[in-house]
Amino acid sequence: MSRNCAIVLAAGKGKRMGESINKQYLHIKGYPVLYYTLKAFTQSDCIDDIILVVADGEDDYCREEIVKKYNFLKVKNVVIGGKERQHSVLNGLRAVTNCDIVLIHDGARPFINESIIQNAVRYANLYGATACGVMPKDTIKMKDASGFSMKSPNREMFFCVQTPQAFRYELILDCHNRINNEDIMVTDDTMVVERYGNKVYLYEGSYNNIKVTTPEDLEIGKQILEKVT
Ligand code: CTP
Ligand code: MG
Repeated sequence: MSRNCAIVLAAGKGKRMGESINKQYLHIKGYPVLYYTLKAFTQSDCIDDIILVVADGEDDYCREEIVKKYNFLKVKNVVIGGKERQHSVLNGLRAVTNCDIVLIHDGARPFINESIIQNAVRYANLYGATACGVMPKDTIKMKDASGFSMKSPNREMFFCVQTPQAFRYELILDCHNRINNEDIMVTDDTMVVERYGNKVYLYEGSYNNIKVTTPEDLEIGKQILEKVT
């Protein structure tokens, strides 16, 4: 059995939400967004430790109002994030100890479930790198600079990637250190390992596993919670 650690990212600014506080601390049905995320990883049978990455200046608040208040005992460390998401991930990775598989997850995806977490661990053990996601439901177009469609590629070839994304720890730490030295920008962690020739196994996540990004998502989130609980 592998030892598995989850890095939960909550160090963004939540600009698109347009609120004065970080979106992770906004409430849905009486609890902060980050509460649901941490609850899922805490209750998971296959997660040993959680490293929480928070914004500079929000660490005391997060420790008191989330970790202590809801008794999230698996949170072993609260570390400060960086300017971009990838810097926050690297800070999280450097704080991990004694772990075979690391799951990297957006704190802003509170509707993660146990089977997605278990599959992340399973496929990371098998293939070294994995990410969940969903097939696009709409027809996909390529668009040119003047706003006209160029092509309608086969939808079967596309996949909308979510988190968690899970990796063998040594692999993801090494790739993140390398990309940090090269100063290349990426939007997720699959791109980090792909850059150095590694393949990522893609498995089915859930359409409910949304990233709370704009104000409408708080309402959609409420509906998801009412449906699943
Ligand atoms: N994140 C982070 N550190 C950063 C940027 C993002 O830990 N420097 C985290 C966010 O807290 C979020 C996840 O990465 O859980 C996905 O990012 P996103 O949805 O873009 O969140 P924000 O960057 O906070 O939002 P926005 O882009 O609207 O400002
Ligand atoms: Mg962002």
